[in-house]
Amino acid sequence: MKVLVVGGGGREHALCWAIAASPLLDALFCAPGNAGIAELATCVDIAAEDIDALVAFAREQQIDLVVVGPEAPLVAGLVDRMESHGIRAFGPRSEAAILEGSKAFMKDLCDRHGIPTAAYARFRDAEAAKAYVREQGAPIVVKADGLAAGKGVTVAQTPTEAEAAIEAALSEDAFGAAGAELVIEEFLEGEEASFFALVDGVTALPLAGAQDHKRAFDGDAGPNTGGMGAYSPAPLLSDALAERIMAEIVRPTVAAMKAEGRQYKGVLYAGVMVGPDGAPKLLEYNVRFGDPECQALMMRLDSDLLPALVAACDGVLESLTLRWSDKTALSVVLAAKGYPGAYEKGSEIRGLERLTDIPDLEVFHAGTRREADGSLRAAGGRVLNVTALADDVTSARTAAYAAIERIDWPEGFCRRDIGWRALPR
Ligand code: AMP
Ligand code: GLY
Repeated sequence: MKVLVVGGGGREHALCWAIAASPLLDALFCAPGNAGIAELATCVDIAAEDIDALVAFAREQQIDLVVVGPEAPLVAGLVDRMESHGIRAFGPRSEAAILEGSKAFMKDLCDRHGIPTAAYARFRDAEAAKAYVREQGAPIVVKADGLAAGKGVTVAQTPTEAEAAIEAALSEDAFGAAGAELVIEEFLEGEEASFFALVDGVTALPLAGAQDHKRAFDGDAGPNTGGMGAYSPAPLLSDALAERIMAEIVRPTVAAMKAEGRQYKGVLYAGVMVGPDGAPKLLEYNVRFGDPECQALMMRLDSDLLPALVAACDGVLESLTLRWSDKTALSVVLAAKGYPGAYEKGSEIRGLERLTDIPDLEVFHAGTRREADGSLRAAGGRVLNVTALADDVTSARTAAYAAIERIDWPEGFCRRDIGWRALPR
């Protein structure tokens, strides 16, 4: 098979790494890719959002499968366009990617179908939104309806903070069209987990679970980020809880989307809050693999990923089983100092060659580029994902941090406490 992976982050590097191991693969392309992906695939200089150029490339190369990493091209209809040219593409069509593309849609769907999620209301008018916040009190959560590059959610501790978020979105256009409507919802107490399922329109096959670390600094302090580290499995997600999430959240969603004429295919990533009573509630849906959760998942996947992606596209997941390693995979994100705020690009990263021969250790590249002189340079906020697989979370964490010690990149930083919730308590 000829496969094109769309995207250029750590998630896409992990997907390319898994796909490259498939005996079914003839040729692997990635658009736009990065310096790490370039060691596994032919990188093509096309942006993940450039739908016309991606379709033209896939037609020209007679690609058999397009695997879309990030949400923006899914919401914009990349899969629809590929399919209209007879090209198989993994991921939801635009009408189904709306599960991530519109939080208001997602909440209304849950409401119509009895799927457990935080109580909410929708607003386009700032005064009405503020009145609702005054009535409900704080803490309360204010969310931009549309895609806002991970910045659209404010967990407000006070009504004043919530009102500022409302002002920013509705009066000052902080998120453009994505913030023209707000979802304001109940603050949920509990512990968060990332739950993944592969979906073929009808059947949902649970994948492994994971936990991420959203805040920038140790002890879950500092600003929200795209994710600073992840591990799988997450002890919180017992088999019983995973089945409950499938029964109460994932399967009803897949059925609801089909019933409403928006058949869902691809990965469905449920951000779940597990309350003090043990009950799972849906925080948000993402229509793609999590980043960096995907990096940990791919290290644990013992089966061939490629036929699983094809089965999801072709509607034959029912006959598929996947094997997962019982070991724990843990991924630590190395980010440029300053991330998620302003940071410098272009600093040199040295020493990765010291890590190439270590078993069960992969350095996935998130934001890197190779210079003409052969040097490796940082090219983004999140830059490397050092991922280790070991018998338990303690040893995976030791292995990942030992590898980080050998990387020479003074301009980077990482959290030192990835996996803390999973350590023996
Ligand atoms: P997002 O940017 O959509 O990933 O959301 C950022 C974070 O906000 C989530 O990972 C949660 O930690 C938090 N969050 C979102 N909704 C709620 C809620 N209803 N209650 C508590 N925390 C929430
Ligand atoms: N790691 C969180 C996300 O991918 O949205």
